Amino acid sequence: AAQGAAQGPVIGFKPVPISPNDTVVVPEGYSVQVIIPQGTPLSGQPAGKSLGEMTAAEQAAAVGAHHDGMHFFPIEGREPDQGSSSDGFLVLNHEYIEPRFLHARAAGMSIGSGRMPLVDGGRDADEARKEINAHGVSIVRIARGADGAWAVKADPRNRRITGATPMEIAGPVRGHALVRTQYSPDGTRVRGTLNNCAHGVTPWNTYLAAEENWAGYFRNEDQQDQKPNLPREHARYGVPTGQGRYNWDQVRGGGDEFARFNVSTTGADATQDYRNEVNAFGWVVEIDPWNPDSTPVKRTSLGRFAHEGVVFGPAREGRPVVAYAGDDSVNEYIYKFVSARPFARATANGGLLDEGTLYVAKFNADGSGEWLPLVQGQGPLTAANGFADQGEVLVNTRLAADALGATRMDRPEWGAVDPRDGRVYFTLTNNTRRTAEQVDAANPRARNQFGQIIRWREANDDHAATRFAWDLFLIAGPESDSRVAGNGNLTADNILACPDGLWFDADGRLWIQTDIGEGQQLRGDLATFGNNAMLCANPITGETRRFLTGPNGQEVTGVVTTPDRRTMFVNLQHPGATTSAADWAAGKVNTSFLTGGVPLSATLVITKNDGGIIGT
Ligand code: FEO
Ligand code: CA
Ligand code: CA
Ligand code: CA
Repeated sequence: AAQGAAQGPVIGFKPVPISPNDTVVVPEGYSVQVIIPQGTPLSGQPAGKSLGEMTAAEQAAAVGAHHDGMHFFPIEGREPDQGSSSDGFLVLNHEYIEPRFLHARAAGMSIGSGRMPLVDGGRDADEARKEINAHGVSIVRIARGADGAWAVKADPRNRRITGATPMEIAGPVRGHALVRTQYSPDGTRVRGTLNNCAHGVTPWNTYLAAEENWAGYFRNEDQQDQKPNLPREHARYGVPTGQGRYNWDQVRGGGDEFARFNVSTTGADATQDYRNEVNAFGWVVEIDPWNPDSTPVKRTSLGRFAHEGVVFGPAREGRPVVAYAGDDSVNEYIYKFVSARPFARATANGGLLDEGTLYVAKFNADGSGEWLPLVQGQGPLTAANGFADQGEVLVNTRLAADALGATRMDRPEWGAVDPRDGRVYFTLTNNTRRTAEQVDAANPRARNQFGQIIRWREANDDHAATRFAWDLFLIAGPESDSRVAGNGNLTADNILACPDGLWFDADGRLWIQTDIGEGQQLRGDLATFGNNAMLCANPITGETRRFLTGPNGQEVTGVVTTPDRRTMFVNLQHPGATTSAADWAAGKVNTSFLTGGVPLSATLVITKNDGGIIGT
């Protein structure tokens, strides 16, 4: 499966064409099984009812919505990438919801309806609770049967983490005044994790769920002279002044289970003041899939922003642990964390993430780069400038990065580290708001609809270095407006737009997943690219081939293989999202994803018919 270092990994399949069709296509010689659609009970027993009929409590014991980042933890494995290739925990994020998929009474809602209508001026408590429970993370054991098919396996460690699960706050922000709430007066606890997009896997074999577009779930009604007058830790992250994303704060008489989503700073009285609830979101959450009694922990050293995901540099004995993370919003930044204490395999745990330095990236026009430290007291990050302690720096990570003059990027999504040479790759998905004046070397196109993939090599190949050398690996787009390093323009075999998911397999194949938004799919300049897809690239030669095209409406996001690389798991998020309920009812939607009459997010299991390594 591997060839010489100069040639990079073998890519042996025949590329699949662009597809506008409502179907999953993989290369000749490959097969696909669909497993764990939303609503699949973690018990391993049949649901016995449709998702729409399920209660909030039943959703909390079943696979959640909108599958995203994912990892396979082999059952006997206590080290990453070792252990069983036929039995393990699939751990996956549930990023957000589409109400018309979730509630029986919402079935007729129109495409793109984001919120359930209010009833008598408020939200139904059980519906809101079901929505909260459809968010978070699933830890579900799956195994391959004698017939080769994969299925859920009952295990006392199967569990759901939701938007209401109690969690610890760790690191410099633990106990800080900005996270003290009525729920946790000492600022050490918070309820729930929201909008978990991509993920990370620690060198000590735990799972990290990143909190991405959490700000919109809250609302702050404070207005002064018709202008928002919000605290900076709300305003810089876009906490809305109108409605929250799903109107959870609109449940009447539900107590602070729901009222906490209204973070206005001028409540009727102190008991209505939830302003700090939102400050406990925007972090990376560590979850131990091996211990069902463990409490998830928000690791605040990694900063507060629209965390897409986390990827670690290779862990080396006696060296710091290094993790990279992107802030997926228009013109935001790429960060890295370097632990203060060295990695020791025998004793490593999440505490390593609680002490260290967070840096933000500056990409210079000459191909050099610098990591700028976000350390209170250094440079502009002083009390006089509003950063009195490290907690204030971290709660206001974006403002601290602004002050340091970091490079504003075209929406950083997933990162991946090449196992062969240690280079770090990040997708920059698109940025149609970049103006001609804002173009720079790393973000070279104004009104960037198609995105690019940037990569860098740390100085002396030391992931803890503060300098690096970067280039653009791939400029996405149509044949006339694209290129891949070493291989010229993209062609019909590999044009893509809006790269998002990114993952290296152990042989060094780079898997690239696309997320053309539902509103742009098969339309305008994006029509050329068909449905969202997954491609496979050789990072050394630039050879790139389209491996999978998905059905209508979905986003391809989340990919991992078993340790033997002969089974691949890929998530399809919101298939059918661009199809009307009338068309679902008429069967005009891919029936592989139809459960109880509704198309649902699910996981694809991909194998090669000859039992070979995926991609060869
Ligand atoms: Fe949830 Fe940035 O994708
Ligand atoms: Ca994403
Ligand atoms: Ca995306
Ligand atoms: Ca999506």
